[in-house]
Amino acid sequence: MILVTGGAGYIGSVLVRELLGIGQQVRVVDTMWFGDPFTPHERLQLVQGDLRTPDAAWLKDVDAVIHLAGLSNDPTADFAPDLNNESNVYATRQLAQLAAEKSKREDREIRYLFASTCSVYYAPTTADTSNVTTMTETMPIAPTANYSKTKRLAEVELLRIADHYPRFTPVMLRKGTIFGLSPRMRFDLVVNVFTLHAWRNQLLTVHGHGEAWRPLLHIRDAVDAYIHLLSAPTDRIRGEAFNVIHKNYRVLELAHWVTEVIEQRYGVDVRVKRDRSGNAASRSYFVSGEKIAERLGFSADRGVTEAVIAMWDALERGDFGLEPEKDPRYFNIRWLKETMMAGAPA
Ligand SMILES: NC(=O)c1ccc[n+]([C@@H]2O[C@H](COP(=O)([O-])OP(=O)(O)OC[C@H]3O[C@@H](n4cnc5c(N)ncnc54)[C@H](O)[C@@H]3O)[C@@H](O)[C@H]2O)c1
Repeated sequence: MILVTGGAGYIGSVLVRELLGIGQQVRVVDTMWFGDPFTPHERLQLVQGDLRTPDAAWLKDVDAVIHLAGLSNDPTADFAPDLNNESNVYATRQLAQLAAEKSKREDREIRYLFASTCSVYYAPTTADTSNVTTMTETMPIAPTANYSKTKRLAEVELLRIADHYPRFTPVMLRKGTIFGLSPRMRFDLVVNVFTLHAWRNQLLTVHGHGEAWRPLLHIRDAVDAYIHLLSAPTDRIRGEAFNVIHKNYRVLELAHWVTEVIEQRYGVDVRVKRDRSGNAASRSYFVSGEKIAERLGFSADRGVTEAVIAMWDALERGDFGLEPEKDPRYFNIRWLKETMMAGAPA
């Protein structure tokens, strides 16, 4: 049995579908903050629960935990720093401690695949886009933003627990920014929002300086990486961090790439506008994905083209309603503000 926390989210809902497809038993624990994206399945157990008050019963019969739950971007972490700390650090530590104790009690390995992020590599001192350093997993990091700071703190907590429990196997997947279709869609991720704006307005706006570098990753490759890690040899992964990326792109280059895909496929002319007003800070980091390729033979090969086409077709079909740009569920910060004002989920 695989426990997937945050399994009803953007990545989780694709991951769970794939895990069921390869015959796994899956238990999802999620607050269902964005709703329930699943159709019932005999090997799927859905538990509506908050990781901030973990329950040891969630780990019953579990061999591996894929821990995705938490706040998942900078704006939400900045808006609700306490919720961010509690969900991203405290909850991660609590669940990991329970999993580690279970591994000791039952004397068997329990894997804990943690959804970290390449944004741990960003610090204001690395923001100089003319002088690019390729970030690898061995480099010292000191993230300063609320979101990435809590992701790093959680990594450190997992390593600390692993020191005391030899059969507890945490692995950190530092993923690039994800793009592509999901049953629980997000339009607040760079490629996804570019596609939405191209479809709606035939116009993309690049804020700040478009030279910023971003590592990107197709959602299906993110899912494949988790599945790959479930069966990788313990001695190659225990306590390790792995960057998982397809490629690094400059944001402006990416905007042009998206417009080109759309023009070639649909004959629709999309303009790119640069907005240098305000002080939209451009997070920039350039990341190496070599370690996971060399050590585990995993590579993330899916590019942007296929994902943009899939999202455009879904928008055309009306899969996200007539005005997805107005639906707060597709934008984590808007949804958090809206639900918090209504008294949930904090
Ligand atoms: N999407 C990306 O580009 C990206 C990149 C790198 C890392 N990540 C990480 O991957 C994970 C999943 O990201 P996503 O894009 O699917 O995000 P998401 O916001 O779509 O999903 C997060 C899920 O966690 C649930 N959740 C939040 N707090 C919870 C709590 N306290 N208890 C139980 N459930 C809770 C939410 O209901 C939601 O279903 C996150 O940890 C994120 O930080 C995402």
